[in-house]
Amino acid sequence: MSWIEYWDDKPTIYVSQRHREAHYRCIADGIVANLGDGNPVVLDYGCGEALSADLVARKCRRLYLCDAAPSVRAELLKRFASEPRIVVIAPDELASLPGGSVDLVVANSVVQYLPSDVLQTCLQDWRRLLSPKSRLLLADIIPPSVGPLTDAVALLSFAWREGFTLAAAAGLVRTLFSDYRKVRAELGLQQYEAETIVSLLKAAGFSARRHHPNLGHNQARMAFIAVHAAS
Ligand SMILES: C[S@@+](CC[C@H](N)C(=O)[O-])C[C@H]1O[C@@H](n2cnc3c(N)ncnc32)[C@H](O)[C@@H]1O
Repeated sequence: MSWIEYWDDKPTIYVSQRHREAHYRCIADGIVANLGDGNPVVLDYGCGEALSADLVARKCRRLYLCDAAPSVRAELLKRFASEPRIVVIAPDELASLPGGSVDLVVANSVVQYLPSDVLQTCLQDWRRLLSPKSRLLLADIIPPSVGPLTDAVALLSFAWREGFTLAAAAGLVRTLFSDYRKVRAELGLQQYEAETIVSLLKAAGFSARRHHPNLGHNQARMAFIAVHAAS
């Protein structure tokens, strides 16, 4: 099993529908806060279900929703069939987009699932798509110091704010027996120190800095903004 196969199997990683909706609204709000001026073209890479992508698309000229899992793309195509600004795309279709045609690439909660050679290919692909004025937002990167306990505390605090505390407590117990835990033990999760991410980005031709806040609810995880390094 690969992580892409895992996500393609439509796993339930949210403790409730309320959690699922609150999560995607929080991500959409975070992306909107980082759109900058104008009417940008945005690529959300590893977008998942992107339930609130319409909120982002409203502020964009075009929003590419890109995910490697075919079943995720099929759902996105159905959900956003009437949104002319949203284009659902597979990772290998990115090669057909013109260089420099994207203003913002967002990759939230994806890097942990990418083997290092795949991450390097992604960085090259994203750099080609971005112009010297564009930005890459890499978010929800897990530092080695952050484990399941920190994630559990962050989830409970999010649940408290969003009104699904009981479901979160029950969900955390279920997680102990979940497929996610088993697959994580089998495939591993890529965790990075901040300096390592900055170095990887530098090696790929970016200049990067830590960015606050992280997208999403978990501020123990990290976000970075990267731009083309000056040549
Ligand atoms: C944890 S979900 C994150 C979804 C969304 N970005 C969010 O923040 O909620 C990870 C997503 O990355 C996708 N993914 C995993 N490996 C990928 C790859 N190599 N290229 C593109 N997407 C990938 C999975 O299919 C899954 O939908």
